[in-house]
Amino acid sequence: MRATLDFDLATPEAPPEASIEAAVKLLKSGFLFRYAEMGSEGNEAALLEQEFAALLGRKYCIAVNSGGSAIFLALKAAGVMPGDKVLLNAFTLAPVPGAIEHLHAESVLVEINERLVIDPADLRAKAEASGAKYLLMSHMRGHVADMDAVQEICEDLGIKMIEDCAHTMGATWNGKQTGQFGLAGAFSSQSYKQFNTGEGGLIVTDDADLAARAILMSGSYMLYPQHSAAPSEEVFARWKGAAANHSMRMSALVAAILRPQLPLLPARNARWRNIHDRIAARLTHQLIRLPQRPPEEDYTPTSLQFFMEGLSQPQIEAVIADCTAHGVPIKFFGGNTPEGFTSRAPHWEYVKPQPLPRSEAILSQLCDIRLPLGLSNAQADTLADVVLQSLNEALP
Ligand SMILES: Cc1ncc(COP(=O)(O)O)c(C=O)c1O
Repeated sequence: MRATLDFDLATPEAPPEASIEAAVKLLKSGFLFRYAEMGSEGNEAALLEQEFAALLGRKYCIAVNSGGSAIFLALKAAGVMPGDKVLLNAFTLAPVPGAIEHLHAESVLVEINERLVIDPADLRAKAEASGAKYLLMSHMRGHVADMDAVQEICEDLGIKMIEDCAHTMGATWNGKQTGQFGLAGAFSSQSYKQFNTGEGGLIVTDDADLAARAILMSGSYMLYPQHSAAPSEEVFARWKGAAANHSMRMSALVAAILRPQLPLLPARNARWRNIHDRIAARLTHQLIRLPQRPPEEDYTPTSLQFFMEGLSQPQIEAVIADCTAHGVPIKFFGGNTPEGFTSRAPHWEYVKPQPLPRSEAILSQLCDIRLPLGLSNAQADTLADVVLQSLNEALP
């Protein structure tokens, strides 16, 4: 009997009752925009910024309308100008090189290793060869690089690091949270992340100038005194005239939905980790290899990655089609065309082609499964069984 999963893996975690109540209260008030012309004590967005800054142990926080906007604004507020080179790990999602393109800057792609994270040796080599002074460090799919090595390279070469923490809310390297290593960290609250507000983004930083510029550029209409996790007036005075308004604010409604989710993070991450590790442990098969996780990494997975080894691309695609037919849609990073949430450097035609032999070889076998928080243990076991049975069918 073939196993079949009867659960939509794209089911997001619904916001808690407290989010719904806060949203309804705000809707009834009509104050959905985060700024008021007559003061704004108690505005949900300003409160969220205070609470999120505290969660990350950072001085400043800026709430925006998406994770992609958070990355764009963090880079721009860090000083990236058109034509500047920005280092970026080759395994990431399209909005990440998209943010660099939005700045008319140039992506310099860095090889990844078998752990699916940036290769420190290639980072140093590419940084020295290109002279790039910015690194957009994307903790893609929740895999955390050797951040001690990355930070040392950045310090040696005077590189400003911005972290893309869309997949690592709460993850740590050697006990330090992602979002605390770089000059700034960018987060997303799109539905499949640890917090679900549909759309949403957050920037954290300890840098007063970056914070002031990001607040002004996010579109605060000179109402920036209504931000509470923000630098002093004299810092804003330096940037007021120079910062363009990009209208990327977070609405008060999104903030109202997000705030009650913050305290749920540890419990959600523990549940996600349980689902991930349970499936990972069951996926033992001669054609499967899981990326290694070193002890320094405390990961917060919302998806699971594995390599399908010893099969050709058409064979991998046939296994994936069989899994999908049995209720387990698998994303494949080795495909010829970008599909769903899955693409890689050769698909980003706006990025100058760059040789990435190691990353291409690694991604040619990489499979990826979304893990909804609502998956029961029994469903998690069925999911793994579907994959194992499809692989057995593919064995010669
Ligand atoms: C790794 C990564 N970075 C950034 C983003 C951008 O987040 P958003 O969709 O909120 O713009 C995503 C989106 O899924 C992502 O996967």
